[in-house]
Amino acid sequence: MIKKSLFTGKEVQIGEGADNLIMAIESSCDETACAIVKNGREVLSNVVASQIKTHAKYGGVIPEIAAREHLESINPVIMEAFEQANIKPEQIDAFAGTAGPGLVGCLLVGLNAAKTMALIYDKAFIGINHLYGHISGNYINTDIEPPFIALLVSGGHTQILNVKSNSDIEIMGETIDDAVGEAYDKVARLMGLAYPGGATLDKLAKEGNPKAFKLPEGKVDGYNFSFSGLKTAVLRLVKSFDGKELPINDICASFQECVSSTLIKKVKLALKETGYKQAVIAGGVAANSEIRRKMFALENDGIRVNAPEMKYCTDNAAMVASCAYFFTKSYDDIEAEVFSRIKR
Ligand code: KG4
Ligand code: ZN
Repeated sequence: MIKKSLFTGKEVQIGEGADNLIMAIESSCDETACAIVKNGREVLSNVVASQIKTHAKYGGVIPEIAAREHLESINPVIMEAFEQANIKPEQIDAFAGTAGPGLVGCLLVGLNAAKTMALIYDKAFIGINHLYGHISGNYINTDIEPPFIALLVSGGHTQILNVKSNSDIEIMGETIDDAVGEAYDKVARLMGLAYPGGATLDKLAKEGNPKAFKLPEGKVDGYNFSFSGLKTAVLRLVKSFDGKELPINDICASFQECVSSTLIKKVKLALKETGYKQAVIAGGVAANSEIRRKMFALENDGIRVNAPEMKYCTDNAAMVASCAYFFTKSYDDIEAEVFSRIKR
C-alpha cells in the first residue's frame, strides 16, 4: 500500500511485498509497550512496561492512574526498543500506534507519541485497531495467512471473526455481556485471588476436577456469547459454602471447562459454516492452557491451528507493528482520533 509521510507527504510503500521496518506503540490499557518489527513477522525488539502491580492494589485498572503511568514510561520504553533492536529512528518506514478500542487517556499518550515521531522523522503514521493487533500476533514468526477463523478473547472483548483477508474481516459473533477475560478476573476475585486473576485461575484449574460442579453455559443464538450467568452461578456456588473451606481448585477447573467448551463449540461451528481449514486464537486469554489445548485438538480434524507465543498474547506492541504491515484498514491521518469502543 502507498502511504504518505506525515510532514512532507512523500510516498512510502508499506505492507505486503515491501521491505519495511515498523515501530509501534501500544498503550490502550495497563501496558506501555514499544516494538520494532521487520516485514510484519520478524521482531527486532519488544519492550513491555506493565502496570499490573499498581492496579492490583485497587482490584482493577484505574484509568487516570494508568494514563499518568503511560506518560512516565513512554520515553524510556521507546528508547529501550530502539536500543535493543540496534536501529535508529531514521531507519523506520512507519510509526504505528493503537488508536482504540481502549482507555482514551491511555491511548492518547501512545498515539500522540507515534504521530510525533512520524512528524519529526517525516515517515508514515499508522493508527491501529487493537483487536486486529491481537489477531496479528499470529503472524509473528509464522507463515500463516488468511482466510481463517479467529477466536479473539481478551479482558475487554470476545469475538469470533471471519478473517477473509487482511482487508476484509467480518465479526460473526461476540459477547452480549462480559468478555471472557473479564469473567475470569471477576470469578478469580470472588475466590479472593489477586487482580488480574485469569492466569492464577488457570493455574489452580489444572489441580482441580473439571467435572466437580456442573455450571451453566450461556445460551445465546449463533456465534454470540454470554458469560454473566456463569459468573453469577459461581457466586452462588461460592456462597453455598457459607464460610466453609472452598474447593477452590475444583471450582476453577469447572469454570474453565465450561468457558473453554463454550468457546470451542462456536469455533467449530464457524469452521463448518465457512469451510475454512485454519483457525487462530488471539488476545490475553489466548494464554489460557485449556483453551489452547482444546483449540489445538482441532488439528485432529485436519484444521491448521495457530496461537501466538505467550508474550504476544497479552498486550504488546509487536502485534501492533505486525498489524500495521499486514492489515489495510487503519487510521493514518494526523487528525486520527482515539476511540474507546469497537469501530465497525
Ligand atoms: O489482551 P489483554 O492483555 O488485555 C486486553 O486487551 O483486555 O488481556 C488481559 C486479560 C485479563 O483479563 C487476564 O486475566 C487474561 O487476559 N488472562 C488470562 C490468562 N492470562 C491472561 N485468562 C485466563 N487464563 C490465562 N492464562
Ligand atoms: Zn488487548
